[in-house]
Amino acid sequence: MNHIDSPAWRALAAHAEAIRTQHLRELFADDPARFDTLSLRHDGLLFDYSKQRVTTETMDLLRRLADAADIDGWKKKMADGEAINHTEGRAVRHMDLRAGKDAPPEVRAVLARMRGFCEKIHSGQWRGFSGERITDIVNIGIGGSDLGPRMVVKALTAQQQPDIAVHFVSNVDGADIAPLLGRLNPRTTLFIVASKTFTTLETLTNAHSARAWLLATAGNENAVAKHFVALSTNQERTRAFGIPDDNTFEFWDWVGGRFSLWSAIGLPIALAIGWRHFEQLLAGAHALDEHFLSAPAEANLPLTLALLSLWNTNFLGASTAAILPYSQSLAYLPAFLQQLEMESNGKQTDRDGETLGIATSPILWGEAGTNGQHSFYQLFHQGGRMIPCDFIVLRQADFPLPGHHLSLLANCLAQSAALAFGQTVDEACAAGTPGPLLPYKVFPGNQPSSTLVLPALSPYALGQLLALFEHKVFCLAVLWNINAFDQWGVELGKQLASQLTLLLDGDADSGAFDSSTRGLIAALR
Ligand code: F6P
Repeated sequence: MNHIDSPAWRALAAHAEAIRTQHLRELFADDPARFDTLSLRHDGLLFDYSKQRVTTETMDLLRRLADAADIDGWKKKMADGEAINHTEGRAVRHMDLRAGKDAPPEVRAVLARMRGFCEKIHSGQWRGFSGERITDIVNIGIGGSDLGPRMVVKALTAQQQPDIAVHFVSNVDGADIAPLLGRLNPRTTLFIVASKTFTTLETLTNAHSARAWLLATAGNENAVAKHFVALSTNQERTRAFGIPDDNTFEFWDWVGGRFSLWSAIGLPIALAIGWRHFEQLLAGAHALDEHFLSAPAEANLPLTLALLSLWNTNFLGASTAAILPYSQSLAYLPAFLQQLEMESNGKQTDRDGETLGIATSPILWGEAGTNGQHSFYQLFHQGGRMIPCDFIVLRQADFPLPGHHLSLLANCLAQSAALAFGQTVDEACAAGTPGPLLPYKVFPGNQPSSTLVLPALSPYALGQLLALFEHKVFCLAVLWNINAFDQWGVELGKQLASQLTLLLDGDADSGAFDSSTRGLIAALR
């Protein structure tokens, strides 16, 4: 059922009209305890949402909407393994992947094999075709089979294993894989072909090039078994590629691609940071799962993030949202969250097949701080658009150099304060701004933001952070009455690309296409 026509939705719309003109300056002036009222602490995390344009009444009304949408019922359906991905008839069980000793036996069995494999690589017991040990791992995958592991491996640079380098290749553009292969030694390189379906064009094209590169030196097909492993749900296809079953780490159709870094897809992570750290990552996510499933609405972190996103999108009219990690190690987090949020919730057809007609996922983007400050923050401050920002910050640096972390933290706090409170003409004047420049020194403020503080970038805290966003996405989908776990919108382009590959490669008639596409085919042939 659509919640847009519900009394809870209408109450929020009326409330939004009433508080739309209120400035964060007033909201803070009215309530000296605003930070205490509008922030949450859980298991080392601090989430401050007092700089969002909400009041306690807003939050109450939003929680009523969550009740009306039966968030608790949907959580239970997901946890019970119901096929809530209804368009594909699949359960959504990524929480089972990180349930520790309570994980299903098939999950524990694959984890045990992954662990054994990591030990062989790290100890040097696993040897390449020439008898040398493996020094470089190349993960070939795209989307969910790339973004999560790539982001986590970068995030946990401080935990990285010595003597092994993990690289990522995703784009079908030869400019991705070719320069990397140019630097590597085929005798000491192992490829991980990561693909849930094992049909993805980019991944298979890169995997075939990698295989040809290996065989050009090895000269014997037997080398493939020593230099290729697969992570997939599709053993028929991994076998057809020539990867032996012993080198294949499986997962299941109930693991969505963008929720899969906890499964066999996490193998490059475990190879990069070691098994103990990989387990800590899973443990952090599991702890957050338990919080999500059991905490009441007013203390529930993922639900709170989701409600704020819904409020900004559907009631205050924001169309984008910025992810701003003040951590260079989290530089790939915005890219990961783009897939997680936009591929999950960038939809207009609801669970009943009806068109929604309201905005769903905001356009997510972002950049590590402080870099973004020197490129696009100008628009945040004076561009005249409302852009909700999520700041993420670490209390303790992962690479402590004297003076660095303090500056990083100060800049993060400076930005969220400047965005919220701005600068009036009087303040600019008092600061000595010459008259003609006064109009340029006015900052309207009232830009909403949240700040999430992690104690440190430990594997455990990163697991918490990622599960937090996964469950936020789930809650939003329930609130919008959409299915977060399919992605039909990517299909049309894939179909057209395979037709166009044939057309670009030959001289067949392109008459079925429009004049623009025909003109471009002619120019590129
Ligand atoms: O781009 C669509 C998509 O299907 C994503 O959902 C998925 O993560 C990615 O392609 C890769 O798919 P696979 O793991 O099957 O290669």
